[in-house]
Amino acid sequence: MSGKHFDKAAAGWDHKQQRLELAAKIAAAISTSLPLHQKMTALEYGCGTGLVGLALAPRLRALTAVDTSSGMLAVLDQKIKDEKITNVTTQRLDLLQDTLPTRFDLIFCAMTLHHIKEADQLLGRFCELLVDGGYLAVADLQKEDGSFHDAEADGVMHHGFEPAELATTVTGLGLQQVAVQEVHALIKTNDGGIERAYPVFLLTGKK
Ligand SMILES: C[S@@+](CC[C@H](N)C(=O)[O-])C[C@H]1O[C@@H](n2cnc3c(N)ncnc32)[C@H](O)[C@@H]1O
Repeated sequence: MSGKHFDKAAAGWDHKQQRLELAAKIAAAISTSLPLHQKMTALEYGCGTGLVGLALAPRLRALTAVDTSSGMLAVLDQKIKDEKITNVTTQRLDLLQDTLPTRFDLIFCAMTLHHIKEADQLLGRFCELLVDGGYLAVADLQKEDGSFHDAEADGVMHHGFEPAELATTVTGLGLQQVAVQEVHALIKTNDGGIERAYPVFLLTGKK
């Protein structure tokens, strides 16, 4: 299980305003699109420093925040300690290799799927880990031409996704009420000084 690239990025992860804005938009969209409640148990996959998870945790009974990067999880553990948060626990694991004995009412995953080569397999694992009636929420980049990440960026397995294709995949995995919305657009300026928008979608569905 490797997370070296993100281990290095962890200490400065929250210093980028665009990341904070995107996480807030994703959390708000999950919050308004799904019927969150205080009895829900949730799994966040690829939680990073908890930007999305900690925004949603007050609306949930318990959140298991999972990532493969010990550096990212250390930053999140520190926040949990500093803010005396009692309903969030962290776990380092890779769902494509490791098992989880628990089932969840909600699974969410923000900006992580494009780092997973076997994205469809992971979506399958999410669906297995949901209780009947549980909800899935996946936010990621819409399909782009590869210019979003720097050429030397590690661990980029997909240049975004066609949301309609993911919707078909999760419908095939048994989810219902599958919906896609655009929640934000990340703005990047290329070497020629030209600004470009990279839309981010949120896919939701119910098992
Ligand atoms: C772009 S970051 C997003 C972090 C966080 N969700 C956010 O929105 O700020 C991707 C995260 O996925 C994690 N990750 C990468 N591959 C993973 C895997 N196979 N299993 C679990 N997490 C993974 C990375 O360690 C990193 O924290």
